[in-house]
Amino acid sequence: MAFIELKGIDYHINKKNKKLNMLFENLNLAIEGNEFITIVGANGIGKTTLSKLIIGVLKPDKGQVLLENINIEDYKRYEIGRKIGYLFQNPEIQLFNAKIYEELMFAYEFGEGISDEVRKRYDTVIKDLSLEKAVNTPIKQLSQGEKQRVAIGTILMNNPKFIILDEPTVGLNQELIDDLRVILLKIYHKGIGVLLISHDNEFVKSLPTKVLTLSKGGRISV
Ligand SMILES: Nc1ncnc2c1ncn2[C@@H]1O[C@H](COP(=O)(O)OP(=O)(O)O)[C@@H](O)[C@H]1O
Ligand SMILES: [Mg+2]
Repeated sequence: MAFIELKGIDYHINKKNKKLNMLFENLNLAIEGNEFITIVGANGIGKTTLSKLIIGVLKPDKGQVLLENINIEDYKRYEIGRKIGYLFQNPEIQLFNAKIYEELMFAYEFGEGISDEVRKRYDTVIKDLSLEKAVNTPIKQLSQGEKQRVAIGTILMNNPKFIILDEPTVGLNQELIDDLRVILLKIYHKGIGVLLISHDNEFVKSLPTKVLTLSKGGRISV
């Protein structure tokens, strides 16, 4: 049983004029939970759309998305978030608190409460993401790289089994890209599966990842 399975997916961009807007036709993909996979492909080919189908934000017109063998539509949004973390192409939109502590603890503070385990996880996440020096700075004043790491931190606080990152190197300088590589490797070596979407060939080549190419109509090749 694969962790994520896409079976016979059809997806149209424009639901009214289906013939002209077929993005995916009979797309099939199986991803294991402990894999490091990268999806590459031309601009506009459907990489972001595919990732949003995987987390159930978009619904296929035909076919099924299974998460641990259960239809993604049968999960509640927060249940999906605890299994799959998703870093948006512009992670700033994922942040809405003043400081890092509030941002990372938000779901716990207003949910099940902050247990010792959660506090320990927070310390680990701050350390793994090298955010120690940023904790007293308002999030708004953090650098782009730091904001991205805070967004990754909020994801890791959920203790996900898998993480999806959509074009995480866009807009980062070489130093930040190198930092991101270290972070991705740390995440992967903790046993968290990774699906990276990237057209940054140099970055992809530097990672221990299986590379899949998405092409027209939703064809996927190794
Ligand atoms: N909200 C939207 N409305 C209309 N067309 C969209 C929308 N989002 C994406 N598209 C179109 O769907 C196709 C796939 O987009 P996307 O998944 O973002 O590609 P990629 O991430 O590979 O660049 C593109 O042709 C894009 O123009
Ligand atoms: Mg995209």
